[in-house]
Amino acid sequence: MSASYEVRGPVAVITMSNPPVNGLGYDTRVALAACVERAWADSAVQAIVLTGAGKAFSGGADIREFGSPKAVAEPNLLSLIKMLESSPKPVVAAIHSVCMGGGLELALGCHYRVAARGANIALPEVKIGLIPGAGGTQRLPRVLGVETALNMIVQGDPVKSEVLAALPGQKLIDRLAEGDVVEAACGLAEEVAARRPLPRVRDLPLAHPDADAYFQFARNTVKAMAKNFPAPLKCVDAVEAAVKRKFDDGMVLERELFMALMLTPECKALRHAFFGERAASKIPDVPEDTPVRQVAKVAVIGAGTMGGGIAMNFLNAGIPVTILETRQEALDRGLATIRKNYEAQVKKGKLKQDKYEQRMALLAPTLSYADIADADLVIEAVFEEIGVKEQVFRQLDAVAKPGAILASNTSTLDVDRIASFTQRPQDVVGMHFFSPANVMKLLEVVRGAKTAKDVLATVMQVSKKIRKTAVVSGVCDGFIGNRMIEQYSRQSGFLLEEGCTPAQVDRAVEKFGFAMGPFRMGDLAGNDIGWAIRKRRYTEKPGLRYSKTADLLCEMGRFGQKTGAGWYDYAPGKRDAIPSPVVVEMIEKHRAELGIQPRKISDEEIVQRLVYSLVNEAAKILEEGIASKASDIDMVYLTGYGFPLWRGGPLCWADQQGLFNVVQSMKRFAANPRDDGEFWQPAPLLAKLVAEGKTFT
Ligand code: NAI
Repeated sequence: MSASYEVRGPVAVITMSNPPVNGLGYDTRVALAACVERAWADSAVQAIVLTGAGKAFSGGADIREFGSPKAVAEPNLLSLIKMLESSPKPVVAAIHSVCMGGGLELALGCHYRVAARGANIALPEVKIGLIPGAGGTQRLPRVLGVETALNMIVQGDPVKSEVLAALPGQKLIDRLAEGDVVEAACGLAEEVAARRPLPRVRDLPLAHPDADAYFQFARNTVKAMAKNFPAPLKCVDAVEAAVKRKFDDGMVLERELFMALMLTPECKALRHAFFGERAASKIPDVPEDTPVRQVAKVAVIGAGTMGGGIAMNFLNAGIPVTILETRQEALDRGLATIRKNYEAQVKKGKLKQDKYEQRMALLAPTLSYADIADADLVIEAVFEEIGVKEQVFRQLDAVAKPGAILASNTSTLDVDRIASFTQRPQDVVGMHFFSPANVMKLLEVVRGAKTAKDVLATVMQVSKKIRKTAVVSGVCDGFIGNRMIEQYSRQSGFLLEEGCTPAQVDRAVEKFGFAMGPFRMGDLAGNDIGWAIRKRRYTEKPGLRYSKTADLLCEMGRFGQKTGAGWYDYAPGKRDAIPSPVVVEMIEKHRAELGIQPRKISDEEIVQRLVYSLVNEAAKILEEGIASKASDIDMVYLTGYGFPLWRGGPLCWADQQGLFNVVQSMKRFAANPRDDGEFWQPAPLLAKLVAEGKTFT
């Protein structure tokens, strides 16, 4: 049952009921239409109230149906809205909690609207690359005015009902309910039961005193804001049509724009990311009702770069943190950095002084393990050395209370080995944050061989509390993100050897949409980190070919921004990357020593070689079960590595190129005399998908 019918005196109350947010999928629409017909037929009923059960009026269309026949099957959303609008008996929407997208469009088809305070009202379609497609762009301006409505449609963010109700001249909300919203709506329904003609939003006049100039201005602003996304500009077009065309003609244009956007790669990418974010928290063999452990107190071991940022996440969420160091100076330094970060936020007006003080009051520094004995979750962020980790985990095993979760922020070490330092490997898990840990959305949750399911479920829940996108990774060198980036770095080194400069590679990759190219990234993170990892990795795998250019750079002491020089030069105190003749000369000399004749490499080849390096490794990661689904890998790249959102992640992008074409390009790259045949060997899963005509996503 996805809608219920109840008669209260002369009023029929129709309640949409499709948890969690009363999405307007096919079944709900059918049920809703049947209830409306019943109310029409019921001679005792003089008016109708429409509301939603549970946590929402309605969260809108069921976007899982998009592109399927169900989405347009009658009664579709447009027909349903028409049905309400042309109802012979008045229809009053009783809005509460969430009224978004198709839900708001449905409410705008009603004759009257009563809203509870605190309801979140929005047309968020733009966030998945669309415009509202069921009259939202035509009706919202008629009740809120052109400018307010366009702002809401272009931004897609929710606005509280009481804020909208207070706007002068607004006709969206006829009444703010003080008590029960359905009761208030029934009251209004009885009042208007005999009133005719019934007011329809479509009939409201709409004008703008200076429409041409306003829409020109709106277009310029939106264009600058929405560079790589087509939908926001289409919002402007649709709202302009609401002003300049007849209602029905505006509806036609809205529909056309909506359908065209649906087919764009940007819309597909945004929908992929939207579902990917939700899917990431689901772990195939960990049921959703797995009981979780309570996490009311957190301890962080190590107050360095990562420890401080990690602690801030929990303080921001109101969870007390004890932070432990070995020496007072290190503790003081760590605390000072946390303070400095918060003070910068206060200065920028992003954090209120009293909130800052509340957060700092939740932080307890200590040098003693006795003080963390009652922590529910301990996150270790000490030096990346197995000996140091061992010492810490043996101590944690001795003092932590039974059932405490012991997490490591290690980026390269074996979580199973770390777990083996304790008598409770089931309680050990990796929580791999990204730098700066208080800013970056991504959290890789590393599942050890013995990690308990309730530990995983708990960590996934905690990650939501601290507003991270958590993705589960199995244990392997580099986990998902860094294991893939290794191939990308290797390939960027080969590009230098074959004829590129660092600036050329970065430019091509940044034009593709990455926040930063590989060499600017290296300079920011510190080239010495990769150097240290290579020394270990390539002694373990001596046959593996890689370009020595980055090692030569480090031998010159050029570690990046922190030493004032890396792949680029830096003016003192500045972060602008200036191409360095010294580095170009070093690369040329190395190239000559290798006997390579440089050639001109196109931007397209640069991008394909780098992104397909990611894709091929991702296929291996999927096949090995290190990641459980393709969208998890895309989420890692979208939230942790600056991959362009409008391309949906490396695997979504590869799918859009066609995996057949991806493999064809890889074969072409393999024919390069510089390749030893190893790098571009398609991963078995990739070859299989091509053979079966399938995609990753
Ligand atoms: P860091 O050197 O800035 O901080 C480490 C801190 O741990 C220092 O303050 C040190 O005094 C403290 N420490 C060392 N031994 C300790 C012990 N036995 N007990 C308590 N405290 C101790 O290092 P960073 O960058 O914060 O890295 C920490 C961990 O996070 C490492 O495992 C690293 O691989 C990982 N990581 C680092 C990332 C980064 O971008 N820096 C990113 C993701 C993970």
